Amino acid sequence: MDSKNIPQHIAAIMDGNGRWAKERGLPRLAGHREGTEALREILRACAEFGIKYLTVYAFSTENWQRPKEEVEFLMSLFAEKIESELEELMANQVKINFLGRTQEFSAELQQKMQGAAEKTKHNAGVVLNIMANYGGRAELVDAMQSMIKEQLTINNVDEETIGKHLYTKGMPDPDLLIRTANEMRISNFLLWQIAYAEIYVTPVLWPDFRREQLKEAIEAYQQRLRKFGQTEEQIKHAA
Ligand code: FPP
Repeated sequence: MDSKNIPQHIAAIMDGNGRWAKERGLPRLAGHREGTEALREILRACAEFGIKYLTVYAFSTENWQRPKEEVEFLMSLFAEKIESELEELMANQVKINFLGRTQEFSAELQQKMQGAAEKTKHNAGVVLNIMANYGGRAELVDAMQSMIKEQLTINNVDEETIGKHLYTKGMPDPDLLIRTANEMRISNFLLWQIAYAEIYVTPVLWPDFRREQLKEAIEAYQQRLRKFGQTEEQIKHAA
């Protein structure tokens, strides 16, 4: 791995928890639980590799349609993990954010999410964005509504203004988007922010996506030539 070309911001669609469990004859919920272990390991590896932002898709605006038992399990997993991991997050200087329409979660869960964000807000280590009740389109709708509420006029709306009204305001866009379990879809994730992200899809299921697999993803990213609309010659000349 080239330590001079580390992505600043990695986003991940943590897919394949259900398949991981099924392969082992376990209930889907066991896959989600193991998925949290993978997330812990990836967070630690991000700190080790010098990645500043990690943004993960934990629950989409569409995930409410899953069986009630699975939705309830995921909610209780979030609550449990916030409680059990907070100390370690503090010790590792992680700043955690829960981004999405979190106002639709139970009051108790909202309180836990806000408490963890508040407690870690001055931490200077990795920024961990847990996208929860998140949808890329919903985020754009929320951004537009808040711009209208602020009575912004036509001349005051440009790309920068929109960026400032997203849940991720103030953060750089992801450089690398990882999707596990071989799905070739964006699934309504970070529609605005991934405009120039390099996309890495792997057949590895999320619970098996660990430090070594992250290293492979970063190495693949380092092989890419990011052109941002320019020609290869222009990019090489500027380097
Ligand atoms: C997608 O796999 C995974 C999810 C919808 C949930 C992801 C959540 C976690 C990994 C837990 C995160 C925990 C915390 C505390 C933030 P899938 O269920 O769609 O898998 P499948 O496609 O194989 O069925």
